[in-house]
Amino acid sequence: MIRTASLSRYFGDRPAVVDLNLEVQAGEVLGLLGPNGAGKTTTVRMLAGLLAPTSGEAWVAGHNLRHEPEKVRPKIGIVSENPGFYKRLSVRRNLQFFADLYGVKDSQRVEETLALVGLMGRAEEPVATLSKGLRQRLALARALVHDPPVLLLDEPTSGLDPEAAKEVRDLLSELSRAHRAILLCTHNLAEAERLCQRIAVLKTRLIAVGRPDELKQRLFGRRVVITLAQPLSRPLTKSDLPFVHEISSDGNKVYAAIDDPERNNPVLIRRLVELGAEIVYVTEEERTLEEVYLELVESGDAA
Ligand SMILES: Nc1ncnc2c1ncn2[C@@H]1O[C@H](COP(=O)(O)OP(=O)(O)OP(=O)(O)O)[C@@H](O)[C@H]1O
Ligand SMILES: [Mg+2]
Repeated sequence: MIRTASLSRYFGDRPAVVDLNLEVQAGEVLGLLGPNGAGKTTTVRMLAGLLAPTSGEAWVAGHNLRHEPEKVRPKIGIVSENPGFYKRLSVRRNLQFFADLYGVKDSQRVEETLALVGLMGRAEEPVATLSKGLRQRLALARALVHDPPVLLLDEPTSGLDPEAAKEVRDLLSELSRAHRAILLCTHNLAEAERLCQRIAVLKTRLIAVGRPDELKQRLFGRRVVITLAQPLSRPLTKSDLPFVHEISSDGNKVYAAIDDPERNNPVLIRRLVELGAEIVYVTEEERTLEEVYLELVESGDAA
């Protein structure tokens, strides 16, 4: 649904996005993460046809962005960092304006969209009186009113209180089920982990892309943590357990890095019991997306 090939944008000599190759499938939410100035907004603006790439190509909903920009525009909904509205006009009039702009024929569509984002009760109020969170819902309504197959969302929950952010997130997870391709730029890693099937980490160049669990495993491997009733009488070594990459212990806990815990854990546990250990728990160490993200962004270059 979205595909880019070596997409790049420079501002003067300064690179904002370099050689980006990315794909977002229908039904997928791809999280675009990266530090401030990483090129996320620049990417969204290029895909929306608001900013010309310096080089490279992009296809959105089957159309080449350079050759058929007018065909791409109706296929996308965008929530940008600062969505503009007619502040003195009502919520409904604003949404109607954008529906007309997109040539939406269905006369019920504005009402449906207001209901979808929970703005029905505020439809008559001027936009100027809306709180930030309500305005963000209107921004989503504007992105959805023409029912586009592609959504480009630039930090749609930033600045919202936890409850409003959760409502927007719940809405996004519903929208993703409807065979849309969604590109979600966010600094909220818990949000990315919850909503996105795949994560792309951008720092001008693409540093990594994959499912959150794949990225975790790629960066950290898998570690099993075994809690014992008491410390072992002697420290374990790799020669005790040839399939273990690394083993260490700390008080009652034994840590083992293993490629295939499903297969190797029974052997590991049997061996520990033979060595006199009394096992209380066996768990897999949980890495957070935050740890993965920080590792990627700090180590910098392409992995
Ligand atoms: N119109 C512009 N003119 C000049 N430089 C720009 C322009 N827009 C963006 N840049 C530069 O391009 C780089 C990428 O900016 P961009 O806004 O895409 O980052 P971002 O990942 O969205 O960051 P943030 O997380 O802060 O929103 C930055 O160095 C920025 O200063
Ligand atoms: Mg940005």
